[in-house]
Amino acid sequence: GAVAGWGAALALGLDNAARPPSSSDTSSAPPAQDITGLRGSAVVPCHGEHQAGVTVAPQARSTFTSLDLRDEVDADALRRLLRILSSDIERLTSGRAALADMEPELALTPSRLTVTLGFGPRLVQRAGAPVPGWLAPLPAFGVDRLLPQWSDGDLLLEVASDDPVTVTHATRMLLKNARAFATIRWQQHGFRHAYGARPDGATMRNLFGQVDGTVNPAPSTADFDDLVWIREGWLTGGTSLVIRRIAMDLERWDLLGRDGREQAVGRRLADGAPLTGDGEHDEPDFAARDGIGFPVIPMEAHIRRARSADTGQRFYRRAYNYDDPPGPGETSRSGLIFTAFQADPLAQFAPVQRRLDELDLLNEWTTPIGSAVFAIPPGFTADGFVGQTLLG
Ligand code: HEM
Repeated sequence: GAVAGWGAALALGLDNAARPPSSSDTSSAPPAQDITGLRGSAVVPCHGEHQAGVTVAPQARSTFTSLDLRDEVDADALRRLLRILSSDIERLTSGRAALADMEPELALTPSRLTVTLGFGPRLVQRAGAPVPGWLAPLPAFGVDRLLPQWSDGDLLLEVASDDPVTVTHATRMLLKNARAFATIRWQQHGFRHAYGARPDGATMRNLFGQVDGTVNPAPSTADFDDLVWIREGWLTGGTSLVIRRIAMDLERWDLLGRDGREQAVGRRLADGAPLTGDGEHDEPDFAARDGIGFPVIPMEAHIRRARSADTGQRFYRRAYNYDDPPGPGETSRSGLIFTAFQADPLAQFAPVQRRLDELDLLNEWTTPIGSAVFAIPPGFTADGFVGQTLLG
């Protein structure tokens, strides 16, 4: 159709090729309804030092799409692709239709929409730049049962919003405008509690029912900045993202009593407090012993094993739940899209995963089935594009 032809023209370098007639008159579509004051109108500014989607309070929905670049895409084509995507990001996140948007009404409810782009090793190579040593598949872990259908890729789009319709539409617009350059490798749909279901800022629950995300560096603190942002080269102001798709066996989890569940993590289910404390944010007392001398927080508990003595071995977690259709004979196929942002995955994420690989009660019920590492370039300005420091 006309749109694919236009995308192909862009891929061929015809930046000024005539746009299909639909694109000229869509971005000014009037609001179908007045949503002033509603969540739908909430806008997260997309420009800045960092990509907005890293530190924004996690939205209710997130779709992660990993793309493989077509063979013929070189540095020039990459530059064109990233300009198109950046322009779409500007429009969509501010509640305006994307280029060639055939459903412009679906762009009118950004609901805190953010789009985060990530680069895999091949994209950096095609750009003609050296690939950072950590931008590669992670070392293999014993617990891994990784499937290619959930792993790796050249270009990541994370599209997140409090409105699921907005996530789907924005994802589709970006993919439509990218399809002359790249094909989809995998896509993962994630969710948290609906906006408004719980107080703003409440820690989410995963599908094991656990309060998940309590101990996490807080955006806009010096600690977060040191752990997360890269401070040299084209990635200055950027970071890295590890995405692990981790299956959670709810059928087997069901066989475990409440005490066992709490000991597996070392925290209470009711409020997420450590087994040695009263409130979610109380410091766990890892030295505490019970009446007969056993550690109150078991030696194999997830939080004991995941905590590093070396404070540099930390990262920012921003997970989403997933829930796939059950396979034959199953009643659920759920899990966590575990995501970790850090300046260096090999120095920060890998040692923790290695320790959990050696020993972690949660391993009984969890299995990593996908893994990917992306470089998250810095943010962009109104006259620039995401990836400009690499390609500009
Ligand atoms: C803490 C669940 C996988 C690293 C926690 C907590 C829960 C949890 C309930 C306690 C509350 C909190 O502080 O967030 C899970 C589940 C997983 C999973 C269900 C898999 C499906 C992982 C992985 C890593 C990881 C793969 C890293 C390799 C951490 C860290 C903490 C934590 C660093 C905080 C530990 C501390 O208190 O210092 N996780 N987790 N988790 N988890 Fe996980």
